[in-house]
Amino acid sequence: MSARLVVLVSGAGTNLQALIDACADPSYGAGVAAVGADRDGIEAFARAQRAGIPTFVCRVSDFQTRGDWDRELARQCAAHQPDLVVLAGFMKLVGPAVLAMFGGRLVNTHPALLPAFPGMHGVRDALAYGVKVTGCTLFLVDEGTDSGPVIGQAAVPVHDDDDERSLHERVKTAERGLLVETVGRMVRQGWSVHGRKVTVGS
Ligand code: GRF
Repeated sequence: MSARLVVLVSGAGTNLQALIDACADPSYGAGVAAVGADRDGIEAFARAQRAGIPTFVCRVSDFQTRGDWDRELARQCAAHQPDLVVLAGFMKLVGPAVLAMFGGRLVNTHPALLPAFPGMHGVRDALAYGVKVTGCTLFLVDEGTDSGPVIGQAAVPVHDDDDERSLHERVKTAERGLLVETVGRMVRQGWSVHGRKVTVGS
């Protein structure tokens, strides 16, 4: 039985597409059970629908409180019985209900080498700082902002003529590779966490 992934998105969904493509190979060991988002009308949903994957929307503005939204998001994810929840370009901070239900099996990908440049503009901030190397990070989500234990990272060079778009595209190429390779090893070999150290496989 392959592992069940629920992937949460907010935009283009190229990370999602990389996972969908990888899951087409039975030896990868996982399948995307559902795709959820905080908004609709996004390309990521078109990708899911083309692959015949169920989608759900959970909008913050549809709820009285952020906590109500968080609890509904946890419920919607749980309805698909995920072994692993993947935030892939999901632009909202999940809350205590999602963390209580999926903590330890909830991963996020960020387009910078954490702890450097957390938050909404990791690529822009790295470029503005003038770093020569940036990259991407896959980490286990905790209660902070991009602060959880690191699972994997990939370095990406910054070119002198880069702007935010060109650099983000190069980072996303590395990010998709890191996400697919690491999630695959996690679902096939398992993982353990000791303090801030994550070990995939034995
Ligand atoms: C990714 O770089 C992700 O790290 C960031 O937003 C981008 C989403 O890209 N939060 P996509 O929607 O997967 O194409």
